[in-house]
Amino acid sequence: MKNDATIALDIVKAPTSKIDSVDFENLNFGHIFTDHMMICDYKNGAWQTPQIKPYGAIQLDPAAKVFHYGQAVFEGMKAFKDDKDNIWMFRPEENFNRINKSSHRLAIPEFPRNHFFTVLEELLKMEKDWIKKGFGNSLYIRPFVIATEPGVLASPGTEYKFMIICSPAKSYYNGEVRVQFSERFSRAADGGVGYAKAAGNYGAQFYPTNLAKAEGFQQIIWTDANSHEFLEEAGTMNIFFRINDTLITAPTNDRILDGITRKSLIQLAEEDGINVEVRRVAVKEIVEAAKDGSLKEIFGTGTAAVINPIQGFGHKGERYEIKNLTDSYATYFKERMMKIQYNLAEDKFGWRYLVKE
Ligand code: COI
Repeated sequence: MKNDATIALDIVKAPTSKIDSVDFENLNFGHIFTDHMMICDYKNGAWQTPQIKPYGAIQLDPAAKVFHYGQAVFEGMKAFKDDKDNIWMFRPEENFNRINKSSHRLAIPEFPRNHFFTVLEELLKMEKDWIKKGFGNSLYIRPFVIATEPGVLASPGTEYKFMIICSPAKSYYNGEVRVQFSERFSRAADGGVGYAKAAGNYGAQFYPTNLAKAEGFQQIIWTDANSHEFLEEAGTMNIFFRINDTLITAPTNDRILDGITRKSLIQLAEEDGINVEVRRVAVKEIVEAAKDGSLKEIFGTGTAAVINPIQGFGHKGERYEIKNLTDSYATYFKERMMKIQYNLAEDKFGWRYLVKE
């Protein structure tokens, strides 16, 4: 659905651009931000006129509820430029729906659709020079909402900021990724906030991930909180296993993020006639498949990571390596998905969203 209705929007342009100081060939993910950002305040029960202004620090009261009770949610999106300088987003409607679903769970007021698409498109047009052409280049878009009302009473805020910042991006991970299957810590539990992109879901992973890093792993694959016998998702990605030629991934539920790359990949794989099983994935099954050689691949999917192969995993002190394949699904689907994103292939499912000049 395109955005038709117009809304008021205040724009203050940055007097100068920092773009010339950026080395676009050597970007560390999420370190550099573009010249402008979007801020929209919520107060007196309504979202106010959004503003696009020069990127910079914001002032918050030390008692702002986000600092005390973690009322914060976010999204991850990307914009791409094709050879004709058109700017495209990939399934932004999904991100819009998901940020409101996350907000709903955290008792944050939902953001209006018109606001979201109007400010996003305007911001992308202003930052178009930051979106570089070429396969692999993108602009990572980070919408987020925080509770700004001062007060340490443990109740939902009555004031919020919805903001969007943008960062030029290439790949999320550099180098090989090995994961540890979690045996003790949990990411999410039934009835909790695992399905939401709540900031706290990510912050809570840092400590166990640091422990895993100390043992030589880059990420954890979280297991179910009750038994630790079933594999759920990695901290930054949903996760797929290829046993022989079948793809297996855990179903989404209130513990697992409903990843947009995840569901797009399932659709592409089914279209290609690949057998996809969306079901619980037992640790035991994957360990056995690694031992008998039927485990061909593990890969993660996410907006930032796209489709990232996993070279090995650790479980209960044992390490398992996965051989590189010439006919890797991860490589194949990454290219197939990116060709759609960069307007280099037919968009059968209507996933691309053109940002109109
Ligand atoms: C994304 O893939 O966009 C995410 O939000 C994950 C984040 C940890 C980078």
